[in-house]
Amino acid sequence: MNSHSKILIRNLTKVFYKKRNSVTALEKISLDIAEGEFVCLVGPSGCGKTTLLRILAGLEKQSSGHFEIKKSDQNRPSQSMVFQERGVLPWLTVEENVAFGLTMRHLPKAYVNERTAYFLNKVGLSKFAKMYPKELSGGMKQRVSIARAFANDPEILLMDEPFGALDEQNRYILQEELLAIWSETKKTVLFITHSIDEALYLSDRILLMSAQPGKIVQEINVDLPRPRKLEDVRSSPEMADRFLKIWGHLQEEVQGSRK
Ligand SMILES: Nc1ncnc2c1ncn2[C@@H]1O[C@H](COP(=O)(O)OP(=O)(O)O)[C@@H](O)[C@H]1O
Ligand SMILES: [Mg+2]
Repeated sequence: MNSHSKILIRNLTKVFYKKRNSVTALEKISLDIAEGEFVCLVGPSGCGKTTLLRILAGLEKQSSGHFEIKKSDQNRPSQSMVFQERGVLPWLTVEENVAFGLTMRHLPKAYVNERTAYFLNKVGLSKFAKMYPKELSGGMKQRVSIARAFANDPEILLMDEPFGALDEQNRYILQEELLAIWSETKKTVLFITHSIDEALYLSDRILLMSAQPGKIVQEINVDLPRPRKLEDVRSSPEMADRFLKIWGHLQEEVQGSRK
């Protein structure tokens, strides 16, 4: 193992059995993600992205292969996951949602309150602390999920298209907020997205997956300096090149999977 690897995945394969059929969702996925790295996984729908995250989160068991999330502290949770939607608990207030993981670990109340307030402020929700999720917009609910994930102080963050259901303006704002929090906390992030723009804006590295069975077929380094502005990505000729390269690949994969 590379000494700086935070996540190590070797030959991870997942086969789902449905009655007499079997679906190979993932085939021999191998990758390393460095401590503090922000990696985006991009691939056509159904290529196994969610399955990979669910395996890393311990929600699903791989068929073969193995992975490791290197622990720096036994008391910290291995991972926090942020989903596209339904990530907030409707019966808890905004602050209770953000505090949830910490409360479950029975940490001292003063610490929980302080940490919760800190991350609520980071996502601009301090004023909404006592509200319930049903009173919030989609963007605000995703802010709650993000604040909770960071407050929980996990070893790594797994994000499954967290902004996929948001309108464009909200998506840009949340991307910016996410980058701000990430650059401060230096968490290791594995982030799934359909959006090439989003991957180029957010990540240090993009991993492209093939259509089923999901394999990693290409790796693109995103060496734009940080802090980044969305305009930087939009106006950079190299980024335009990379956009087209990724787009070309995705088109091939989508076309291929239709044959
Ligand atoms: N629990 C499951 N049982 C059977 N098949 C599944 C299950 N979860 C996912 N699959 C199948 O595995 C493949 C990959 O799914 P998924 O990981 O959700 O893809 P993605 O997130 O890239 O769209 C799909 O063909 C899907 O139908
Ligand atoms: Mg998915």
